[in-house]
Amino acid sequence: LAGLAFGAHAADYPQKDKVITIVVPFAAGGPTDRVARDLSEALRKPLGGATIVVDNASGAGGSIGANKVARAAPDGYTLLLHHVGMATMPTLVRNIPFKVESDFEYLGMVNDVPMTLIGKPSLPASNFRELTTWIHQNKGKINLGNAGVGSASHLCGLLFQSAVKTDMVPVPYKGTGPAMTDLIGGQIDLMCDQSTNTTSQIEAKKVKAFAVTTAKRLTIPALKDLPTLQEVGLKDFQVTIWHGLYAPKGTPADVQKKINDALKIALKDPEFIKRQESLGAVVVSDKRMEPAEHKKFVLSEIAKWSPIIKAAGVYAD
Ligand code: MLT
Repeated sequence: LAGLAFGAHAADYPQKDKVITIVVPFAAGGPTDRVARDLSEALRKPLGGATIVVDNASGAGGSIGANKVARAAPDGYTLLLHHVGMATMPTLVRNIPFKVESDFEYLGMVNDVPMTLIGKPSLPASNFRELTTWIHQNKGKINLGNAGVGSASHLCGLLFQSAVKTDMVPVPYKGTGPAMTDLIGGQIDLMCDQSTNTTSQIEAKKVKAFAVTTAKRLTIPALKDLPTLQEVGLKDFQVTIWHGLYAPKGTPADVQKKINDALKIALKDPEFIKRQESLGAVVVSDKRMEPAEHKKFVLSEIAKWSPIIKAAGVYAD
């Protein structure tokens, strides 16, 4: 009934004069924003030429934007594009004002993105071994950029500190877009960030790149020579960031199906795939495109990350 209460009738969804908003819970210019904007382009045609806009509702490590969608009208015109934060916030961010498993409809997964460990241009290390020497010579003084408590860069940075047994000074931003500006400028020293945001900066030699967080090396030219953190000694280190699409709980089932059908077409869009793959991302082509499998995957990721986060003693208030 919720759907009818909001006058959302799948038959005419999306209505020509109505705008579909995809909320990105981080600042413009970062990796989540990049996925959302590329995806919006690929969704336009499958959604009947709908007008799709991106709304950057940042803050609190991505939980402010997620909450905005959890509280939005369940009519299919406000969607959320979020990443692994949906699985880590329940442990990393105490008292989040929504329940990941029950306040959202799951509309399908979008991609998997590797992370890269990068440094400011003036950092006096040109490989991972030299980086670890520098880290141990600068204990307690290293500024580690992230997108706030609960963000992917925060999670990866915490696990990295735990692996190298060195605490660093976390410097939170509204997203790793703005954080990257300060890293290039030398205001911060290190950051763990997704390749969708770092590949172009690494290619342009605006930052130093030390390693990737995936189990296997990447194949794209800009990143193929970077060792994995496992290769350089952090044996269990593996972080891959995935992105999914969500709607508020109660969005009519047939509206959800229309969006998921459009998503499946978008995920096969050659331009979308080319853009994402050029940045090291892998567009989802498996069963996680299905809403039920998307939800199952997120619940399994909550179960996976919770003990890892707690064991590393890294969850934050
Ligand atoms: C993150 O660290 O969660 C993301 O990089 C945030 C962003 O997209 O800016």
